[in-house]
Amino acid sequence: MDYNNFESKSAQEILQWAKNEYGQKAGLASSFGMEDMVLIDLLAGLQGDITIFTLDTGRLHEETYEVMERARSKYGVTIKAYFPDKEKVEALQKDKGFFSFRESVENRKECCSTRKVEPLNRALSNLDAWITGLRREQGVTRVDVQKVAADDDHNSIIKINPLADWSLSMVEEYIKANDVPINTLHKKNYPSIGCAPCTRSIETGEDIRSGRWWWENPEHKECGLHPRS
Ligand code: ADX
Ligand code: SF4
Repeated sequence: MDYNNFESKSAQEILQWAKNEYGQKAGLASSFGMEDMVLIDLLAGLQGDITIFTLDTGRLHEETYEVMERARSKYGVTIKAYFPDKEKVEALQKDKGFFSFRESVENRKECCSTRKVEPLNRALSNLDAWITGLRREQGVTRVDVQKVAADDDHNSIIKINPLADWSLSMVEEYIKANDVPINTLHKKNYPSIGCAPCTRSIETGEDIRSGRWWWENPEHKECGLHPRS
């Protein structure tokens, strides 16, 4: 299939295609950030069901659980949470403590690998396609994101990024116009939200992902969920 044809399609068209083509074998990977809430709202307005899953790293903000619960009740959706392997987390914390990710990029990637990447691999093993809220504007590591492509990092299942060409203001306008619930941290200058100890608020004018792993260089700012995004 020539996935380039999807580049001219709208987010709604792509999501409806994904629902028709894959049904519950398509899964929305949701961290319940602004983009993912837009996707849940768009999906709710289309025919058919898909799977929604989240990676509960064990280090999320309380506000993130609150917006998950609001999404569950507003849209009546089932959210499957994948946890990290408990023995790996227990060993990591026993050997390296509770903030090892601050000590080096290597340690940070080890924590992301245990708490995010391995659970993601487990989630994707049940699916034929996954949907994400990636946008090209999000930074140097994401400028080449395609709307639909085979994901060579995950057994070539189909990766679908319906908002790839959306700007931040398009996301914000959609949220306002459609009264979409959002993580309350967004209103406190957290445009991008990951785990609590690795996310902070940003100053006006700073890059939107500058609050993620703020002690690292921009080219390292991927956790392994999207290695070639
Ligand atoms: S991250 O890789 O740096 O954490 P980011 O927060 O920008 O990613 O989110 C990009 C997309 O990755 C989200 O729109 C979502 O599809 C997916 N994603 C990120 N974190 C999670 C998570 N904890 N659970 C499920 N999907 C996630
Ligand atoms: Fe660990 Fe931080 Fe990665 Fe979360 S974002 S998995 S706490 S290193």
